[in-house]
Amino acid sequence: MNKINKRDTFKSKIGTIAVLAGGCVGLGNIWRFPYIAGENGGAAFILIYLAVSLCISIPALLSELALGRNQRCNAFRVFRKIKDKHPWKNSGILGIITGFLIFSFYCIIGGWALKYFELAIMNDFSGKSTAELSESLNNFIQGGIEPYLYGIVITTFTTIIVGIGVVKGIERLNKILMPLLIFLLLILVINSIFFLPNSREGLLFILKPDFSAVTWNTIFQAIGQSFFSLSLGMGAQVIYGSYISEKDNLIKTAVSVSLIDMSIAILCGLAIFPAVFSFNIEPTAGPTLLFLTLPNIFTQMTGGYIFAILFFALVVFATVTSTVSLFEVSVSYVMEEFQIRRRTACLWVFFALLLLSFLVAESQTKDSSLVFFGKSLFDWFDQITSNFMLPLGGIITVIFAGWIAPKTLLKDELTNKSTLTTNTKYFSVIQIMIKYVSPFFLILLFLELIGLL
Ligand code: PFF
Repeated sequence: MNKINKRDTFKSKIGTIAVLAGGCVGLGNIWRFPYIAGENGGAAFILIYLAVSLCISIPALLSELALGRNQRCNAFRVFRKIKDKHPWKNSGILGIITGFLIFSFYCIIGGWALKYFELAIMNDFSGKSTAELSESLNNFIQGGIEPYLYGIVITTFTTIIVGIGVVKGIERLNKILMPLLIFLLLILVINSIFFLPNSREGLLFILKPDFSAVTWNTIFQAIGQSFFSLSLGMGAQVIYGSYISEKDNLIKTAVSVSLIDMSIAILCGLAIFPAVFSFNIEPTAGPTLLFLTLPNIFTQMTGGYIFAILFFALVVFATVTSTVSLFEVSVSYVMEEFQIRRRTACLWVFFALLLLSFLVAESQTKDSSLVFFGKSLFDWFDQITSNFMLPLGGIITVIFAGWIAPKTLLKDELTNKSTLTTNTKYFSVIQIMIKYVSPFFLILLFLELIGLL
């Protein structure tokens, strides 16, 4: 049989959930969700996030998984195989390009995390003032070559895992790293809640419901965040769906993954913000939170040396499980479209990414020429993918799954050909979400992001 037709399938249900959750849990859970939740009404935001997940993101996730499992091919080919005459037949390429671009800067940030893991081991934060920490962060990022080299380590590791294969590489890695990640996170949460002075304020920041902080913008933020967090709109879930066994229950899988992803995001908040408030520091998000605020806190915390190591190990694990899913999107595309072996495809993608991530890292150096209209290539990629390509990819996928693909596709996949009675009972509700609710809100989000709303 042709190598390309012999498709791997994840070996176990738990492995499938670990892989999918691993692809979802990433920097978004650590440095974005807790802050957005805190700024947008705490528990009120979490409730909205839950509603948004149920009505918008889980239906989108189900669409991707169903398309992937039904066609068992890469995220580009899915559209062509289902409707080869439709004007959207090439639209899957958007997801492949998005994944590739996201990887190019995600691996650089993974490199920063790796560097900080090393600094934590060397006890480098100790005794440094905020100004000194800030200076060394700037020197590191703007140094160009160093972040790139650390990014290469992340990319190389990712290439090896994906090169080993779907079951022995990707599934095994996630089955090891995900429980480890949860274990580390629980240690950090317990320390933050029970052993830090004044952790109450941090808990209130994330957990106290404040509905007065909720605006329309909150809802858009929730949609954007849950979409990014569940790695939707760029083919990652289509490709993972294509490896899911046909006996698995897709609805149960999607709901579990989404709950795990959300719980980990909330736990990250419970680990981080009690510490931030205990040390009287302003809550922040993004790189500043991870590479400045937190090292600053670790220098002051009892046992900070150990907690810094555990924390940056967690960040590296979360990044690597995500880069693996991003990488697989490109590799499966190259493998199937150019009819080459997995390992050769990995090398092609690896070298292409070495080049692109070099440009991305270079664009952050002082006086770089890769700055366009005041923004570095790094920022352009980040913003174009999150604010334009991902939501557009999401809209295309849900409309394709709900309206363009044969009517039986979704039903067959979501109910395992009507053999799962509970799923069959709820199918019509889910179908309404996929056909109407999810596209409607995604289009609103898209219009808002491009400034038309
Ligand atoms: N879901 C990841 C996060 O929350 O950080 C980001 C991401 C990873 C997006 C993998 C897309 C993807 F394929």
